[in-house]
Amino acid sequence: MTIPHALEATHLYKVFGRSPRDAVRRLKDGATRAEVADAGTAAVIDASFTVNPGEIFVIMGLSGSGKSTIIRMLNGLLEPTSGDVTVQGRSIRSASAAQLREIRRESISMVFQHFALLPHRTVLDNAAYALEIQGVGRTERRRRALEILERVGLGDRAEAMPSELSGGMQQRVGLARALTAGTGILLMDEAFSALDPLIRREMQEQLVELQRELGRTIIFITHDLNEAMFLGDRIAVMRDGRIVQNGTPEEILTDPANDYVAQFVQDVDRARVLTAGAVMEPAHATTPVTAGVRGALRAMRELQVGSVFVVENRRLLGAVTDRAVIRAVKAGQTDLRALVDRAVATVGPDDPLTDVVERSVESAVPVAVVDAGGRLLGTIPRVTLLAALGNVPATTREIDVIEPAPTVPQAAIIASLAELAEPTEAAPVDGALAAKGGAR
Ligand SMILES: Nc1ncnc2c1ncn2[C@@H]1O[C@H](COP(=O)(O)OP(=O)(O)OP(=O)(O)O)[C@@H](O)[C@H]1O
Ligand SMILES: [Mg+2]
Repeated sequence: MTIPHALEATHLYKVFGRSPRDAVRRLKDGATRAEVADAGTAAVIDASFTVNPGEIFVIMGLSGSGKSTIIRMLNGLLEPTSGDVTVQGRSIRSASAAQLREIRRESISMVFQHFALLPHRTVLDNAAYALEIQGVGRTERRRRALEILERVGLGDRAEAMPSELSGGMQQRVGLARALTAGTGILLMDEAFSALDPLIRREMQEQLVELQRELGRTIIFITHDLNEAMFLGDRIAVMRDGRIVQNGTPEEILTDPANDYVAQFVQDVDRARVLTAGAVMEPAHATTPVTAGVRGALRAMRELQVGSVFVVENRRLLGAVTDRAVIRAVKAGQTDLRALVDRAVATVGPDDPLTDVVERSVESAVPVAVVDAGGRLLGTIPRVTLLAALGNVPATTREIDVIEPAPTVPQAAIIASLAELAEPTEAAPVDGALAAKGGAR
């Protein structure tokens, strides 16, 4: 079964001016924006994209690049010169005025940069406003509005007047109003741009959290790349009316489509955007617990490292260091399990690099990336972390993280494991290798 798009824009054009249709015809024939300037301002040129249910889709670009024009076409506030928009399968273009109002009431609500609260109404009545328009009864709408106000941390200010709130709080009331409306799609045009940086960041975090809880589809406009990268599941980058790249934050960071996007991403706060999973390296320095103390020693010598991760059925048990292993060998110990330091720093694949940095500082061994089931997915050595943060070309990206990397002396490991296999904790060589193979 295919999931229908929440929203789809197909070949949208908007030209303001004397002869919009003529301008679009010429643009379709390959004319540039400048070449049609005599006919009008081409604010949006051939924009196509789809937005999936439950995602935050960001449209980003400099001032004047056409962001607001696009978003106004999405809910029918502006009529496209050419092209169409479908909202949950319904064409905006062919909707009557009454149908459009219905779509706006039921499917798609909009949050502006200045939320324009009604000054003579309480916070609660402001938050309940959209429901009032929808004809929901007073008790019910106040109940629903209060629930959302609590979500955005304003439950105790419900009876206050807007003027008694700080700017950030007022912004939250506006957000609550849009959320209370209960529409599946939220359009947000520079909704946080007027806030000071700390509050803005708090709002961004809250929006992501709310979106996860409430599962709304959000189309968010910003000219701030950091904001775009932090919020967006996908980002469309606009320039002079055109979408020049559409991709995940990571795609846009690591593989900018052109110099314009590359320049944009230079200043981005990479630590907040890149995830552990995007920069991790295959975990070569691992040993199955069944290989025992001497297996661990052998692995460290082969790989010329001072510590290895110990895995059991692909799950990460912890790490052992060369010193601990040598001491154990001298003492005649064979059981590796007893030596494992279980307090290794771990992160999830979706954790941002800021988390990795924190862990890395505390840890002598590379940070381990593990999935929810505790399986070792990869590692982030400090040098990898520094390279990622410094935007050093990641040469290791060429390595396929599923296949064993050619630099691993697999044959040597097989030989050493076979040689070392001790009767008491004999790991079938295949099994041991499977565990290692999976631990990346
Ligand atoms: N109603 C209008 N009439 C004429 N030109 C317009 C109109 N609205 C927008 N434009 C022009 O279309 C272009 C795109 O404007 P738009 O407001 O979509 O940009 P934006 O990306 O939202 O910019 P900002 O970040 O400053 O809000 C600009 O050149 C603008 O001057
Ligand atoms: Mg705008």
